[in-house]
Amino acid sequence: MNDQPILRVLLGVGGGISVYKSVDLVRRLAERGCEVRVVMTQAATAFVTPLTFQAVSGHSVRTDLLDPAAEAGMDHIELARWADRLLIAPATANLMARLAAGIANDLLTTLALASEAQLYLAPAMNQAMWRHPATQANLATLRARGARILGPAEGGQACGDVGPGRMLEPLEIAAALRPRVQQHLAGARVLITAGPTREALDPVRFLGNRSSGRMGYALAEALAELGAEVVLVSGPTALPAPRVAEVIQIESALQMHAVVMERARRCDLFVATAAVADYRPVAPAERKLKKDTEKLKLDLIRNPDILAEVAALHSAPFTVGFAAETDRVLEYAQSKLTNKRLDMIAANHVGSERGGFERPDNALTVLWNGGSHELPLMNKARLARELAALIAERYGARHAAST
Ligand code: PMT
Repeated sequence: MNDQPILRVLLGVGGGISVYKSVDLVRRLAERGCEVRVVMTQAATAFVTPLTFQAVSGHSVRTDLLDPAAEAGMDHIELARWADRLLIAPATANLMARLAAGIANDLLTTLALASEAQLYLAPAMNQAMWRHPATQANLATLRARGARILGPAEGGQACGDVGPGRMLEPLEIAAALRPRVQQHLAGARVLITAGPTREALDPVRFLGNRSSGRMGYALAEALAELGAEVVLVSGPTALPAPRVAEVIQIESALQMHAVVMERARRCDLFVATAAVADYRPVAPAERKLKKDTEKLKLDLIRNPDILAEVAALHSAPFTVGFAAETDRVLEYAQSKLTNKRLDMIAANHVGSERGGFERPDNALTVLWNGGSHELPLMNKARLARELAALIAERYGARHAAST
């Protein structure tokens, strides 16, 4: 049985003899828990029919940008947003040249411009075409923009030449896209906090913050998709309940603290996405405060630091914090990582164009002892899946080191 979570792969098929391998590639990706949608160039359809890819992927295959019937379903922009990965295999010399130049003259190259998904290229071409300085320059451009290049392999070619230019085998491509390390979360118990807290001033007013809960809810779902058993402790949000094992609603930091501390010893991972109030009113008024004075002074007291307390537990779970900062983001995040003895921290630049509170998009720099990873601006659902995969990888690495 395949218990791997879903990774959405948009497979772009270029026109070359190795198209036959791409048919098997769809099956190999599906075996690793990927949902695959296929887009073919016109040249590719000369080698294998779209029907073949439809049969192996279970979805209709797109070949034209201006296809009214197809656009009435998932249009090409939706398709571009749908993908977690854009994999082009085979990537011909012509396709690589158009991608490097940013030309969007068919569906596949248009999708490559419109998609924010990580781009993977599996080149396949004659060895002389591969060695040509134009192809190598295009390759360098694509690499510099962040494309990951898989292969090519060396050996005998369909044209009779011998040399570099053979497309990698489907299993090798599938493994590069979907390392099995993500299985480390299967059955892991995750406790995650999300949303804001409300600190009562009186029966009708509270101190709150701008957290919408989106980031935490998306991350809870992404961790569950990776096989974890997720319990979400959430402050008040307007979001529908995510698909996780259990959701516990709380209002204040003290309530969140009580629930988390009661459960923390029974979890393998703790993820603190919530924007917890650092202070609460010392004594909330029992009746609605009246505006009978010109000034009102609030007496506040520190709330417990939930994240720090969990990380300090004897046999603490693998602990992931967030750091929302308006300035010196990395410096503050690094000091929280060290001082609170966290396993990882996701640094969030808030109050800027880079996302953060309330917005649908966000960008993060993830730090751990001895490493870091940039997750550029993207929608929170996709960002959550990338972050969940990274958490799974680091959690797996710690397990491997301790066994
Ligand atoms: O909810 P969204 O609108 O989608 O926005 C997402 C987010 C910006 C809220 C989220 O991505 C984020 O950055 N959350 C952390 C916000 C925060 O409170 O950061 P902080 O730097 O003040 O706190 C550091 C860490 O300690 C956080 O993991 C926080 O959950 C935790 N903490 C803080 C105070 C406290 N008393 N207890 C805690 O556990």
